Amino acid sequence: MSYTHRPVMLSEVLEYLDPSPGDVICDATCGGGGHSLEIARKIGESGVLIGIDLDPQALNAARQNLEGVSCRVILARGNYGDMAVILEEAGYPNPNGILFDFGVSSHQLDTAERGFTYRAEAPLDMRMDPDGPVTAADILNTASEGELERIIREYGEERWASRIAEFIVERRKTAPLQTSGDLVNLIYAAVPRGARRDGPHPARRTFQALRIAVNDELGSVERGILAAIDRVQPGGRIVAISYHSLEDRVVKEAFKRAERPCTCPPSLPVCVCGKKKVLDVLTKKPIGPTDEEVRSNPRSRSAKLRAARKVLGTLGGE
Ligand SMILES: C[S@@+](CC[C@H](N)C(=O)[O-])C[C@H]1O[C@@H](n2cnc3c(N)ncnc32)[C@H](O)[C@@H]1O
Repeated sequence: MSYTHRPVMLSEVLEYLDPSPGDVICDATCGGGGHSLEIARKIGESGVLIGIDLDPQALNAARQNLEGVSCRVILARGNYGDMAVILEEAGYPNPNGILFDFGVSSHQLDTAERGFTYRAEAPLDMRMDPDGPVTAADILNTASEGELERIIREYGEERWASRIAEFIVERRKTAPLQTSGDLVNLIYAAVPRGARRDGPHPARRTFQALRIAVNDELGSVERGILAAIDRVQPGGRIVAISYHSLEDRVVKEAFKRAERPCTCPPSLPVCVCGKKKVLDVLTKKPIGPTDEEVRSNPRSRSAKLRAARKVLGTLGGE
């Protein structure tokens, strides 16, 4: 199957990342290299592009996509949460720019057997890293009812979380859940008909929740953003595109703490904690795709882009 994924908010990414000839840029979610290809064109033959992804299929696609570019390309399979080590090993510990385009690629969604989609019958897998330790089926068939409810409520923002968790535990008493169809049918049974009439597909939130849990997405986002703030060169840029509010909140909070790290009580007339500003946030509010982009690429609909520029040394206020 050929790799298909249209890079989201490409012109906004280039505007805020601002890659220049000779720059070292880390694309922390390289996917098939859609954003990377345009970045590579901007940094030219003296530039270096480091592409990270957990998914070997994505990196194979990126390798082909980036074949003709003139810059040096280093592709690394790994978790962007481990970016500091990956950059160190690549020999470029402090890039000029770092891009995150979180979530799942169209290719992953469209490859039914990866189990990310509720629209096709497939094993309940959902691992971004095919060698990852836990699948969605593992969670569904072993987690306690309370834990399932928490995952579905917290990561899926699903108001029917407790009923869905109850139905999962009831169902697995007879047979384990194995396929996306098993879960979709169960959700149809758990969510009352009236609540299913409007809005997105009734399984969408639960599938999102499981994907986030399987891949510890919020933990990785937090580690990745903190590593990026620490590692990017002074003057360098960080750009992050999120697709749901939980991811976006992690980015927003991390940027805010780095812009205003002072922990002194407001009653103190002067700062005594010594923590200095590390970032300038360039987007006071997140930026969304244009109406035209949403029309031509509906998967861009929920994208929110935030960007920041490093102003000082590392976090911690030395
Ligand atoms: C939305 S896609 C990126 C698409 C890419 N920007 C492009 O234009 O082709 C997100 C990618 O991030 C990868 N990914 C998700 N979590 C990751 C993690 N913790 N570490 C590294 N890569 C991750 C996924 O495998 C997927 O390929």
